[in-house]
Formats: sequence, structure tokens, C-alpha cells
Amino acid sequence: MNEFTSKVHRDLPATRMWGFEAASPGPTIEARSGEGLLVEWVNNLPAKHFMPIDHNLHGAEADKPEVRSIVHVHGAKVPPESDGYPENWYVPGKSATYYYPNGQDPALLWYHDHAMGINRLNIYAGLFGLFIVRDKVEDALNLPRGAYEIPLVVFDRSFRQDGQLDYPVSGIADAPWVPEAFGEAMMVNGKLFPYLDVEPRKYRFRLLNASNGRFYHFSLSNGQHFKQIGTDQGLLPAPVDIETLLVAPGERVDVVVDFTGQRGERILLKSDTFEIMQFRVGRDRVSDSSSLPGSLRPVPKTLESSAIRTRRIPIIENKAKNGDSMMMLLNGMHWDMPVTENPTLDTTEIWELVNTTEDSHPIHLHLVRFQLLDRRVFNEYVYYRTRELRYTGPVEPPEPFEAGWKDTIRAHSLMVTRIIVRFEGYAGRYVWHCHLLEHEDNEMMRPYDVVAPRG
Ligand code: C2O
Ligand code: CU
Ligand code: CU
Repeated sequence: MNEFTSKVHRDLPATRMWGFEAASPGPTIEARSGEGLLVEWVNNLPAKHFMPIDHNLHGAEADKPEVRSIVHVHGAKVPPESDGYPENWYVPGKSATYYYPNGQDPALLWYHDHAMGINRLNIYAGLFGLFIVRDKVEDALNLPRGAYEIPLVVFDRSFRQDGQLDYPVSGIADAPWVPEAFGEAMMVNGKLFPYLDVEPRKYRFRLLNASNGRFYHFSLSNGQHFKQIGTDQGLLPAPVDIETLLVAPGERVDVVVDFTGQRGERILLKSDTFEIMQFRVGRDRVSDSSSLPGSLRPVPKTLESSAIRTRRIPIIENKAKNGDSMMMLLNGMHWDMPVTENPTLDTTEIWELVNTTEDSHPIHLHLVRFQLLDRRVFNEYVYYRTRELRYTGPVEPPEPFEAGWKDTIRAHSLMVTRIIVRFEGYAGRYVWHCHLLEHEDNEMMRPYDVVAPRG
């Protein structure tokens, strides 16, 4: 982890950033399923932070070193000591060597800082990168690869006129935390509004939303559809034709776009009114030997009957008297309260996320992959008074584009979102949290324990 400067746009002076080696996103790590690897994550950052630390947040008190970091690989199935527990941060001059067994299906994972109380700032400064897992089964599908498989890491930032990153503050000098951070500059792979020369043929784009708080609704300006082939944790059973991709912070989508009929066109990747990037399609015909098979990889449904326990977990917002958001809590609990989620290793549970807030929260569990069962609207007043769930709408099954393996799920406002999770791999202490980084840094994160079965 280094500090460096990077030109994000022709017309802007170089921007100070933190990243891996000298890049943000950092180098992409490519791994094969079942082949472990070791990474030494070296903190070579300067001693002073350049983002507004809020010392009121748990873990970021004034007696803590300003610059601290710890790396977590989002979506990786790893032993707890290599998962990057938020309190195990270390300071410049130190490092940690982590073991990634990669005993999991091919997927686009990503590594990022996870230091308690400042991870929103460290990630905003640039501390993230991609980690791709592949295997033979996926290779045999003959999807577009090599130069035709392109990761697109999308995130928003604010820049000052001198080209420097600007992180929003509350206006209260000794309490700068804001409940959400949005930028109006759209970045792809570290560049501001870039273009990509493409050939008129199929491409595989692996999208990650690495924003602190922005949700994207990606579409193509020519009305062309995406073929979505995968979710956070790997391939879907079959491609899904989709016009708009809804991607929350932390989520990934894997898509194929066919530019064959678009020779000579310029196509924008858009999100609502934002232009994200441009594809410039070449004029010359090319041959394309890649395929988009009609079936990809089976995703066996985890049956509800296999769950040994259902946990009902409310998501609650604490507001100040003037209505300002103070913090959001999982299960009404703060980070340092006793562990409440303690599933047994090799068992399956259903988690019912009862979102009583006005926000959609992308909820992420470390270690595991899971499936979305359904979502359903409920009466929040009855819930507040009695803690009973009175449903006011029909059960909404997963959309076809999220009916695969997930590790981050949108818990929609005023809905109950039910996921089914098998806790596999390792016993030990992990975390689960909202992936809106401003929420995560302010108590919307909880430790959880995977408990080894007795006997
Ligand atoms: Cu992207 Cu706790 O993770
Ligand atoms: Cu994670
Ligand atoms: Cu949240």
C-alpha cells in the first residue's frame, strides 16, 4: 500500500491517492480454484491521513494511529486469521501475510481496506483492487477472454479544482462523519469518464461497484441489452437478457455485450443521468470464436427445509431530534456488544432482514455465499409497536438476475429480505455489515461467530 499521484483525466492535475503498488484499483490478482496463494500486504503508507477522520466513531478514537489498514478479500472463503478482521489493523511499516485457499467457485472478488472506523476513507483514497478466481469448467465455456474480458470497476468521487479528492464533511468540525458520500465524477478503472476501443464482437465485462454509497442503474445508450451471466459469487445457470443492471456498492455483475451489429458506433454506458464511459466500436469486421452458451453452471437451490434456524434481524436507524441520521444498527446492536449471530459450522440458516429504514442497504456476510429467497413489504408501524411482521404485499421472488450465488444483497427499504445461508468452510470470528461504507464505519457492522459443532 503506497501513496502516489495519478492522472485521472487529461484536463486535471495529478491526484494524490493511496493504492496498491502504485495504482488504484491495484493490480488484479488472478487465482485458480483450489490453488492456494499467499499474499503479504505491506502497509507503506505515510504517517498522516489526508481524509477527514471522525474521532467519534468507534475504533477511530483520537488515541488510535491515524493511518491504519487491513486488507479483506470480499467474497473469499478464507480462514478467520486471513480474513482481515477490522480491529486487526496495522500501521505503516508493518505487514500481514494472508493465506487464500481459493476453495470456491470462479467469481470476481475484490480486495479492499477494512480498518475499523476509517475504511470509508481508506477506500475513498483508493485502497482496493480485484481478485479473480477461475477454473477449468468456466474455461470450457469459451466465454470471451483475454483482451475480450475486461473488468470495469466503477466508483464515484468528488474532485476539487486542483484535481485532489474531496471527501464530503458534515460541517461540524469535530464530527465530520456524513451518513452518505456521493461524488459527481464517475470513475472506471481509475479514470474519469474514459472510452474503450472495442471490436465489433462479443465482450465479457466484469462490473464491480466500488463506490462508498452510490447505487448504479447501468444501461447502454443505444438501447442494447446486456446478457448477464453471473452474480457476486459466480455464474448464473443461464444468461439473462437485461436492459438495466441495478448494482449496489460491493455487488458484482458479469455480463456479455455483443457489439457485432454496432460497427462504427459510439455507445455510452450510462447510469440514470450520468455518463460513465464510452465504447468506440471499430468499423472493420472481425471474427469471433467465443461463445455465449445457453446454460452456464448449475446453481442448486438451497431448500428452505434445510435451514435449522431462522434469525429475524431488524435494521434500525437512530435519528437526531432534527431528523439527521445519527447511525443505523443491525439488530439494534453496536459493534462492541456481545455476538448475537453464532451459526454452527456446516448448518444452514435463514436470515430475515427487516429493514425499517428509508434506505436500501447492501448487506454483506464474510466467508459465505448465499441465496436470496424473497422480499416482502410489511407494515412498519405494527412492527414498531409489537415486533410482529404483518405483510402488506405479495412475496416477491428473486429477480432472474439475482437468482444466483450472492455475498451482498440489497435489503430494500420497508421490506423483509430473506436469505438462506450455509455456513461452510471455517469456524471462527467473522463480520457482517452494510456495504454503504459510511454506515459500516458507524456501527452498521457486527461480528459473528461460526461455531464448530460439539463432539
Ligand atoms: Cu467488501 Cu466486509 O467487505
Ligand atoms: Cu467481504
Ligand atoms: Cu446501510
